[in-house]
Amino acid sequence: MHRLIVFCFSFALLASVKSVFPPPCDSEIYCNGSILHQVQTAKLFDDDKYFVDMKLKAKPDDVLLAFHNLSSKSPHFIVPPAKLREFLDAYFEKPGTEFDTWTPPDWHDKPKFLGRIADQKLRDWAGKIHNLWKPLGRKIRASVKDHPELYSQIYTPHPFVVPGGRFRELYYWDSYWVINGLLLSEMTDTAYGMIQNFLYLVNRYGFIPNGGRIYYERRSQPPFLTQMVESYYQVTKDKDFLRAALPALEKEYRFWMQNRSMAVTINGTKHVLNRYHVQVGLPRPESYTDDLELVEGLTEDRKEQVWMDLKAGAESGWDFTSRWYIDGDGRNNGTLRDTRTSQILPTDLNALLCLNEKTLASFHRILGDGDSAASYDQAAARRQGAMESVMWDAERGAWFDYNMMTHSKHSEFYPSNLAPVWAQCYSRPEMAEKAVQYLKGSGALQFPNGVPTSLRESGQQWDYPNAWPPSQHMLISGLSKLPSEDAKQLAFDLAQRWIKTNWLAYMKYDAMFEKYDVNGDGKPGGGGEYEVQLGFGWTNGVALQLLDQFGETLTARSGRVSSGLLLPLVISATLMLQ
Ligand SMILES: *[C@@H]1O[C@H](CO)[C@@H](O)[C@H](O)[C@H]1NC(C)=O
Ligand SMILES: *[C@@H]1O[C@H](CO)[C@@H](O)[C@H](O)[C@H]1NC(C)=O
Ligand SMILES: *[C@@H]1O[C@H](CO)[C@@H](O)[C@H](O)[C@H]1NC(C)=O
Ligand SMILES: *[C@@H]1O[C@H](CO)[C@@H](O)[C@H](O)[C@H]1NC(C)=O
Ligand SMILES: *[C@@H]1O[C@H](CO)[C@@H](O)[C@H](O)[C@H]1NC(C)=O
Repeated sequence: MHRLIVFCFSFALLASVKSVFPPPCDSEIYCNGSILHQVQTAKLFDDDKYFVDMKLKAKPDDVLLAFHNLSSKSPHFIVPPAKLREFLDAYFEKPGTEFDTWTPPDWHDKPKFLGRIADQKLRDWAGKIHNLWKPLGRKIRASVKDHPELYSQIYTPHPFVVPGGRFRELYYWDSYWVINGLLLSEMTDTAYGMIQNFLYLVNRYGFIPNGGRIYYERRSQPPFLTQMVESYYQVTKDKDFLRAALPALEKEYRFWMQNRSMAVTINGTKHVLNRYHVQVGLPRPESYTDDLELVEGLTEDRKEQVWMDLKAGAESGWDFTSRWYIDGDGRNNGTLRDTRTSQILPTDLNALLCLNEKTLASFHRILGDGDSAASYDQAAARRQGAMESVMWDAERGAWFDYNMMTHSKHSEFYPSNLAPVWAQCYSRPEMAEKAVQYLKGSGALQFPNGVPTSLRESGQQWDYPNAWPPSQHMLISGLSKLPSEDAKQLAFDLAQRWIKTNWLAYMKYDAMFEKYDVNGDGKPGGGGEYEVQLGFGWTNGVALQLLDQFGETLTARSGRVSSGLLLPLVISATLMLQ
């Protein structure tokens, strides 16, 4: 009895200490501490991600000791920039040394889907996008496995396709659209390897980090692994693969339910829904000085809160956006400092988890475990009901993010307001049809080159006028699954607008971009904390999927076919936004 009490007491103590000060990651060099602080605040590089991607030339303890030695001889322990550079030359290598170039061996030049694209120009272009899997292939060197302490890179056993640009490593939710593209490109082995990497990460961390770097170790990203496995299974029908993957998928699901859920009571009924939430109140190592400057003048408590909510924003994949703002009056308004991601129950995260629950149920059914299938079906039904009570607005006809501070729904347009349509997570068909009407009346359809991420021009990259491939794909794919001709026509129309801007940008720049401007006729997106990036994994994957799904009717008509008609609307929308 006595021992039990002592045990419980020390366990509680341990747990509470842990929850107040979780270490930011397993490295004193890359995630927190004075080397990081001094190097980043000296602004030796254009992008803060540069330093944290450098490889060590000596053991971490030796590097820490050498820096201690150096700073102890410096005035106020601040090492002057010239000495910092010498220190970096002596102890760090340039980023990128942890990879071997790797050409996927399963790449071949005649995947069948290309033949189904009717328009000759689009077919040739799809062939070029298919070619881009080669330069985006990466294999982590064996030295990372043998000496992980010298790298910020997280070792994963199989080669993979990266997004591109500053995103040199594996990323979590990006990979869903990459894998769908690879499957169309008949690169099943590469897709398999990428999924194996994610299963490996779940088994190692209990969840999947945002990306393959230790400074991402405390945050995840939208949980798409179950859907990656579903895509792979639909192509291969490989039940052994499914059986082997399932325990890790369930482990990841438990992480989201244990560590990222919240209870909300509406009209006396308690519902459990999910949120993004990262309990590390420190600047993001890869955007360190941005995060420091952002909180200047705030109290220590407020700083920690802003940093946690920025990390939760990064976990949401929408980094950053006015969608996560809650100002001092509880309104969905403000500036980047008002980011309160963890206080919002997001429509898209919950739609995705609902879909995952249904997919996990189907996996169990395929493998003959009816009881487990039934319990996941019940979880999906519970969530569907919760989303209907908490997020569905019958009057406006869509789902809205829920604000836990004011206990009310937000009201702005985001494509994520239709995420339950994509996930088919609603109880009555008329809800989806109402959501189509909502979309039509939202003002978000008046742009020639896609549906913007919001209608607010905040300067953040997940806001107007930027449109992102995953949002376009989820919206289009959701609409195309609805029975009405109206919704199907809208899906095609949006696919045509998106393909057109991707294609025009490719003609102009010979490149694919991570995001596009909804008014640009081939203009890449902008804003946020770094320059627009080329490559680009998910853009390629979404373009290939749309070219496959609508390939019989999409065209590359050059010129501004529909934008003449749209121009007056665009002008009035722009005026409205000012
Ligand atoms: C981060 O580093 C600072 C100083 O280098 C230290 O005081 C603080 O305790 C560290 N925080 C965590 C959470 O490790
Ligand atoms: C400490 O610095 C001195 C020079 O200032 C150098 O000779 C010595 O090797 C350094 N020690 C370590 C552990 O780096
Ligand atoms: C999730 O929460 C549990 C219980 O609070 C904790 O023990 C565990 O470490 C957390 N898992 C992760 C991966 O953070
Ligand atoms: C948002 O805040 C700005 C600046 O304080 C204010 O002018 C605007 O009216 C607010 N918008 C809403 C919707 O509350
Ligand atoms: C809560 O109850 C009120 C009063 O009965 C009702 O008008 C409202 O629609 C209910 N809200 C939800 C979300 O069920």
